[in-house]
Amino acid sequence: MRKKVTIVGAGNVGATTAHWIVAKELADVVLIDVIEGVPQGKGLDLLEAMPISKTDCHVIGTNDYADTANSDVVVITAGIPRKPGMSRDDLLQTNYRIMSDVVGKVTANSPNCILIVVSNPLDAMAQAAFRQSKFNRERVIGMAGVLDSARFRSFIAEELKVSVENVTAFVLGGHGDTMVPLARYSSVAGIPITELMPKEKIDAIVQRTRDGGAEIVKYLKSGSAYYAPSAAVTEMTEAILKDKKKVLPCAAYLEGEYGISGYYIGVPCKLGSRGIEQILEIKLTAEEDAALKKSAAAVKELCSVIGV
Ligand code: NAI
Ligand code: 2OP
Repeated sequence: MRKKVTIVGAGNVGATTAHWIVAKELADVVLIDVIEGVPQGKGLDLLEAMPISKTDCHVIGTNDYADTANSDVVVITAGIPRKPGMSRDDLLQTNYRIMSDVVGKVTANSPNCILIVVSNPLDAMAQAAFRQSKFNRERVIGMAGVLDSARFRSFIAEELKVSVENVTAFVLGGHGDTMVPLARYSSVAGIPITELMPKEKIDAIVQRTRDGGAEIVKYLKSGSAYYAPSAAVTEMTEAILKDKKKVLPCAAYLEGEYGISGYYIGVPCKLGSRGIEQILEIKLTAEEDAALKKSAAAVKELCSVIGV
């Protein structure tokens, strides 16, 4: 039997995630949204693309949670995106109300699913979903690090004019201005980037990575990024559905790892069929550790505002 993925929110990130998932023939997809007609139209349009892409996935769009029953993975993109001048944190109250509504309905219909949270502010929304779902922490995962690392990797590849396939990079911490791109753990074919670029260049790339979301919002004006975010969600979904044991930076609920307890924050995780199967603890310098703690404090502050 084919796997089933529900995507809540048939907007830019949701619909594009559905596109990547069926293009890679990973699972049947249910797109669900509060707006009537939009998920149905996008779902049918995607279904009609299957003979051309030669992929056998069933796709439907719906407003009825009964159609989402027994999903293996549920991706939550429901919410509002930011506009120019807004920070991710400005979305807190609205998206928290939406998240509360969605998680109750999702878990009632798919009690065994793995949740991937995308809505912003990401770490606080993942925490809200975790608290409300009452799932174990392995099954509630936030998407941000894969996106932020992909931005970091793209900028490194462009600067050094090398294949993106050669570049590995890690971004830890919260999905916000306090994120922690780790230049020390970033490399080109195993060669640390610190050997390949002067410090000023690395600093500029780190800053561009931190501002990566805002850079796109500034261009789009009426929304935020969605191609790279949906590709990131797809990589995580694939790792889970195929039990790949892939190590990816994800927002995870920490219980003492990295000296942080009781909050979601981006850390290296091994993803497999059980969700987060391991949190990898790497040694940080005092400066990196302080940056991660600062990022965790920012997440804590948002969580306290919504009481999660
Ligand atoms: P969008 O506005 O294109 O789509 C959001 C969709 O959610 C809309 O179709 C809307 O009708 C739907 N929605 C609202 N309330 C709902 C509810 N109660 N139930 C079901 N659907 C509901 O926005 P976009 O660009 O798709 O972004 C979605 C969210 O993802 C935003 O909060 C954005 O900030 C966040 N985001 C997070 C990223 C990350 O790295 N974690 C990256 C990109 C976006
Ligand atoms: C981004 O980083 C909006 O959080 C989203 O593009």
